[in-house]
Amino acid sequence: MIVFENVSKRYDDNQPAVNYLNLEIKKGEFFVIIGPSGCGKTTLLKMINRLIRLTEGTIKIEGKRISDYDINELRWNIGYVLQQIALFPHMTIEENIAIVPELKKWSKEHIQQRVHELLNMVGLEADKYSQRKPAELSGGEQQRVGVVRALAADPEIILMDEPFSALDPISRTKLQDDLLNLQRTIKKTIVFVSHDMQEALKLGDRICVMKDGEIVQLGTPQEIMQNPANDFVREFIGLNQDFKDTFNIESIIQPISKENVYLQVLHRVSVNDPLQIILNNLVDHEAIAVDQDSEIIGIITRESIIRYLAKDSLGRG
Ligand SMILES: Nc1ncnc2c1ncn2[C@@H]1O[C@H](COP(=O)(O)OP(=O)(O)O)[C@@H](O)[C@H]1O
Ligand SMILES: [Mg+2]
Repeated sequence: MIVFENVSKRYDDNQPAVNYLNLEIKKGEFFVIIGPSGCGKTTLLKMINRLIRLTEGTIKIEGKRISDYDINELRWNIGYVLQQIALFPHMTIEENIAIVPELKKWSKEHIQQRVHELLNMVGLEADKYSQRKPAELSGGEQQRVGVVRALAADPEIILMDEPFSALDPISRTKLQDDLLNLQRTIKKTIVFVSHDMQEALKLGDRICVMKDGEIVQLGTPQEIMQNPANDFVREFIGLNQDFKDTFNIESIIQPISKENVYLQVLHRVSVNDPLQIILNNLVDHEAIAVDQDSEIIGIITRESIIRYLAKDSLGRG
């Protein structure tokens, strides 16, 4: 179990990156931290393995303060996966994975057996991959090796900082699935940082939504979906930021025609309204009229928005 008691991190005189945080991560739990860029996710994560020193408060692992652990003992027993895979380019895949087991002075046979077992477990045939160099692997394969390396010395805790966000949608989905299966087998405590709510909902036993260094809401995916704590969470679970950034209302407005003229008596939205408002209106109305400078310029139907979203989500996986 990982416990944060009134933990703060101040880098300088500015706003604290993490502000009096209290948190309990359970043993064996898949714990996802989510929030916008700059809200303190990486800081929170790196304080656990003392890559960042906390300013105030206490973090305990299994009841013992992290400051009381030997730093090597602490780091070797916590796996760590980053967004940008940091494999050593001149070393083989096997050598890359073996780093911590070697530091822990495992025997050669034990290490080799472990590397092979792990590579096979994530779908990289050991005989084929173990002697290759990182450059001979695709991005998705390298990231798999990154995950394997974090697991190599059989740590109880694995920290993952947006590990899949640099991957293409298909590799990302595949790795998420594999990680879920893996977690069900190995039952480690995983603390996983994400900025993608779909990913968080898919992976997390519990999700911790952060904003400005503080916890906005902590709960199971169901709890968060059913009872978002405030507008910030509501907006976050609404849709991916990607969706909103690229949303173009004009692409889904249909002109008023003989066929649909009967629909326009219904509710009105403004051409400047965000996607969330339009979706909320379509919950109660089959179609809505779109207003620009007090004139109706067309309509949006449920069907047209579903088509738009379906196309978009296919494109992004
Ligand atoms: N080494 C640093 N020095 C000063 N400020 C930092 C440093 N690292 C992060 N910060 C600041 O702390 C805040 C939280 O950053 P970070 O934990 O990286 O957020 P996230 O991972 O959620 O994007 C941000 O405002 C960021 O600019
Ligand atoms: Mg970060």
